Amino acid sequence: MFGYGVVGQGLHDVLMESSGFHADIARICVKHHNKKRRIPMRYFTFDKKDILDDPSINLVVELIDDAEEAYKIVRAALTGGKNVVSANKKMVAEHLDELIDLQEEHKTSLLYEGAVCGAIPIIRNLEEYYDNELLFSLRGIFNGSTNYILSKMFNENMDYEEALKNAQKLGFAESDPWLDVSGTDANYKLSIIIEHAYGLYIRPEDIFHVGITNINTQDMQFAREKGYRIKLIPYAGRVGEDGLTGFVLPRFLTQDKKLYTVENEYNGVVVEAAFAEKQFFYGKGAGGHPTGSAVLSDISANSFFYAYEYKKRKQKLGLSFTSDVTLEIYFRYRDKKDAGLLDFDEVTESYAGPDYNYIIGRISLQELAGKKKEILEREVSIINTGLKPEKRVS
Ligand code: HSE
Repeated sequence: MFGYGVVGQGLHDVLMESSGFHADIARICVKHHNKKRRIPMRYFTFDKKDILDDPSINLVVELIDDAEEAYKIVRAALTGGKNVVSANKKMVAEHLDELIDLQEEHKTSLLYEGAVCGAIPIIRNLEEYYDNELLFSLRGIFNGSTNYILSKMFNENMDYEEALKNAQKLGFAESDPWLDVSGTDANYKLSIIIEHAYGLYIRPEDIFHVGITNINTQDMQFAREKGYRIKLIPYAGRVGEDGLTGFVLPRFLTQDKKLYTVENEYNGVVVEAAFAEKQFFYGKGAGGHPTGSAVLSDISANSFFYAYEYKKRKQKLGLSFTSDVTLEIYFRYRDKKDAGLLDFDEVTESYAGPDYNYIIGRISLQELAGKKKEILEREVSIINTGLKPEKRVS
């Protein structure tokens, strides 16, 4: 095992309590020499070779924070003939194409259920249950920290900084919480989901994402008055004949939506399929024990020789990823000079007040992507109203 942080310790607890499955942890490789550990030091090593070069170790469980180091470890393990279980979404999302090739080339397996939505078994379901389903769309709440922050701000009027600090204390947030609040973490998970749902590897940087950093009390007030909640929602879905679009944006949700009910650090995934129709997965998306349980499930699956087959990739669905779509967006701005920042295709509603203004209308995803820097820097916010993305007619 590599790493003994929140997830590593969570896995250890889960392993000790599991009555149905037995696995021995041979060694745990950690970085810090002087950290107090809760189990005897004889388990630990500081040299990765003690694991990677030990022929008696048949499985590497990678649970470290540093994605680049994790990539080196996973690459070396897969190349050296060891199977790997990882919960590192950044590492998987950034290198998935190559990691798929490595598994094939070296006949080894990499499982990463714990990397996406904690304890919700979405990757396994996409691989095994929806393998022959035509999937219209997937969306959800993939980041526990931002959902926790938004819930606390909305329900308890807690301020953003305090809610973020709590999320860090409770062990949900990344060590660099910018990854959570900027939507980057949710975006990594979306990129992995797109591979398993549609067989396309879309690099995270090619998926438009905006997090929750610009959401303010006026946006919360607007949502409250309309009976909405605001959540950070990643989306992937079919558009037109052979298009697939995807993005991560804050979104208004009405009370009749399943994701409206997902609060605090919980995650949810809504799958819309041609035959199974709409399905909803709900569970804890962050924290040591929920993520540890997903890792344990992968360890157990590995013992039965389970490996992802990347079935959708092999089916060659002929889809191409596109940003040439329009969404309906609420755009809030304070300074009148920002009124023209975004070029809407069509405006459906607008309001102008002394220190609060908004425009709601259809806008292209490409236009949003082109203005991302300004959106993040200025005193403005964008929130998806949730209308279905449409192929742009120019
Ligand atoms: N920081 C992540 C979250 C941890 O808040 O969801 C689980 O991936």
